Amino acid sequence: MQRSLEVLCGSDTGHDTNRHLRNHKLMIMQKTILFGLITVGILAFGCGGPAVKKTDKSSAAEAIVRTEPAGDAAAGEVLYRTCAVCHGQQAEGMKTLNAPALAGQEPWYLRMQLGNFRNDRRGVHQKDVFGAQMRPMANVLADDAAISDVIAYIGSLPASTLERSVDGDIANGKNYYNMICGACHGPGAAGIESLHSPRLTGLQDWYLERQLINFRDSIRGTAPGDTFGAQMQQIAQSIPDDRTVKDVVAYLGSLQKKDR
Ligand code: HEC
Ligand code: HEC
Repeated sequence: MQRSLEVLCGSDTGHDTNRHLRNHKLMIMQKTILFGLITVGILAFGCGGPAVKKTDKSSAAEAIVRTEPAGDAAAGEVLYRTCAVCHGQQAEGMKTLNAPALAGQEPWYLRMQLGNFRNDRRGVHQKDVFGAQMRPMANVLADDAAISDVIAYIGSLPASTLERSVDGDIANGKNYYNMICGACHGPGAAGIESLHSPRLTGLQDWYLERQLINFRDSIRGTAPGDTFGAQMQQIAQSIPDDRTVKDVVAYLGSLQKKDR
């Protein structure tokens, strides 16, 4: 813990005052964000707020957390053929094509990201080479029903064992994760849907590393309307260095065996 605090505050380098100040500011900001999120959560859920987890589809649109509309997996299988070209037959991902595993990801998060690509909230930054490849693919899906179908099919595929390719200090990464990331992504990186924070197990380490760097470098999370990406982007900017990125990714990689 002590070690992670030093890493977080940059005091292990001894002289990076700017970074220290920046991280301190970001920690305060993080607390503010969390407080805001918790308040929203209490308002929406604690007081029996509107349209949460109802089966009524018409009110689902206004809900902060929507119940997943049931899709038709058989229809989704046909639609998924396009996706398989890059994401693999079993949605296990393909490193050579930079496409992450989709099997094992939560349906609500797949929906949110497909919506982000379709609404120009992701994959629009000029340096987002891989997001730009995915964006037109999300538009291949005709409508919400098609999205539900393809998600239903992906949900029927087993999560696969993923290759490990990023080396880092797992113990240090675990400390950092528990100190910073767990508040939103949950213990063991299982995800917290009410905070719009996805499960982080079941994703390839090379993909996690790239996303953290994309968020940190404002390539992801800065498009207008990307409210939740912006939250993650601010957090990513407080990660002190590339080594800590690798450490936390190595820790997340070490969790993947227990996935599902
Ligand atoms: C041309 C290759 C290609 C095709 C075809 C493709 N994708 Fe992707 N997809 C990608 C790449 C590359 C990424 C990673 C983007 C990044 O790095 O930000 C991605 C990312 C995603 C993500 C975001 C995952 C996450 O964890 O945030 C989802 C969801 C997704 N694809 C779903 C689909 C679906 C559904 C289809 C079929 C309709 C599809 N993709 C077709 C290349 C492709
Ligand atoms: C304040 C809450 C919060 C904290 C703290 C936080 N995240 Fe996130 N994170 C989010 C949200 C919300 C998203 C969803 C944004 C999106 O993908 O559009 C997200 C998305 C991500 C993604 C993208 C996943 C994907 O499939 O593309 C990664 C990777 C990630 N977070 C890693 C981390 C790590 C590592 C930490 C700790 C250094 C962390 N997060 C801390 C809220 C948070």
